[in-house]
Amino acid sequence: MDKIVIHGGQRLSGSVRISGAKNAALPLMAASLLTKDEIELDNVPQLSDIATMSHLLINHGVKLSICGTGGYDALKHRVILKADTITNFRAPYDIVRKMRASVLVLGPLLARFGRAEVSMPGGCAIGTRPIDMHLKAMQALGAEIYLHDGYIEAVAPNGLHGAEINFEVVSVGATENALMAATLASGKTIIRNAAMEPEIGDLATLLNKMGAKISGIGTSILEIEGVLELHSAKHPVIFDRIEAGTYAVAAVITGGELTLENVDPVFFSNIADKIIEVGASITYDGNIVKVSAHGHRKSIDLVTGPYPAFPTDMQAQLMALLAISEGTSTITENIFENRYMHVPELNRMGANIITKGGVATVQGVSHFYGAEVMATDLRASSSLVLAGLSASGETIINRVYHLDRGYEKIEDKLAKCGAKIYRVIS
Ligand code: EPZ
Repeated sequence: MDKIVIHGGQRLSGSVRISGAKNAALPLMAASLLTKDEIELDNVPQLSDIATMSHLLINHGVKLSICGTGGYDALKHRVILKADTITNFRAPYDIVRKMRASVLVLGPLLARFGRAEVSMPGGCAIGTRPIDMHLKAMQALGAEIYLHDGYIEAVAPNGLHGAEINFEVVSVGATENALMAATLASGKTIIRNAAMEPEIGDLATLLNKMGAKISGIGTSILEIEGVLELHSAKHPVIFDRIEAGTYAVAAVITGGELTLENVDPVFFSNIADKIIEVGASITYDGNIVKVSAHGHRKSIDLVTGPYPAFPTDMQAQLMALLAISEGTSTITENIFENRYMHVPELNRMGANIITKGGVATVQGVSHFYGAEVMATDLRASSSLVLAGLSASGETIINRVYHLDRGYEKIEDKLAKCGAKIYRVIS
């Protein structure tokens, strides 16, 4: 398993191009199942989760090619998908267990083919993460759901029909599954208490390009008029606001300054505002964002919630910053019941954090000490990188496969800005 080694204490300076959003690219790729025509996605990040989704779609029979755009970094960021010969309706456990977002094939397969067999995803490090609301939404649209041998079998022999879907809890994934399924359901669907994350808007935009009839994009009430079929479309994946927030914290935690390219201020401001509150200057010039440490870092109170509240996916990263800010901060994690796996590791690096239920109390200390630590989940591992960048001494982060799920070439991007960071491949 690869490790990342960081010799901390370098003030970062330079530019980072923010990649396409993992949490947009995954549902966008699943949406290709809704049409027999070709879907072309640009600005797709090169991540292990994207590879897993590619593997899953190929398993269903999707023709998929990943090609370079010749543009920035010459990395491969264009994915072309064509689901004209779907032969297999089963999403197997060995793929689903690696990536919960695999469940996003459920809605498209049901809507277009009237059948799907998807392994139950099981829990993960940050929580039990049930999918009951996904299943209730499919039933509301007319599907019959059977659970057996750890699999969900869903059938809609007469096709799906429009419905009123009211989510009792805001769910990104359940909203995405319901939205995709409703595009081909006969009649009108209304989704209430829909998630409003920018990635949902990006998915709805692609679906409308494909011929869907979705209104209310960006609000908590989505209305979908079902159509008979969807067609080809091209679409660039929206920028990754969580990656952008992570690098913004990297600038501030090292006392440096970073320029972030390809950032939409509209969808970044709820993250930026909290970083400014701690102690940063953030200015915008079109889709260029300048982040610099500004004055001393001070404690704040942080509460995570569904968009436009502060995102849970940035909680661990801001905790690392607050751990070396003056005063005592409180963090309330309202989305996942176990999203504090990074706390013991940060404390091993000298932080002073106590958790009780969903609340973390962060007593600021002067600095982190380098240490050997263990990544437990994607965002926890990014908080350890941030702590390592600012620590005195050497930090070794084990199990960095967690990082590779959501951050494209993180050590390269940081090294280009002056970080002393490298990967040990083993
Ligand atoms: C998406 O997960 C993201 N993943 C997560 O990002 C993100 O943390 C989360 O949304 C919240 O913003 C992708 O988009 C691939 P939810 P998702 O359904 O859809 C409960 C990362 O680090 N719930 O919005 O699985 C659930 O337990 C990842 O990039 C039910 O109870 O999250 C949670 O408490 C981590 N029943 C809450 O809703 C359901 O049927 C919100 O979860 C579904 C969800």
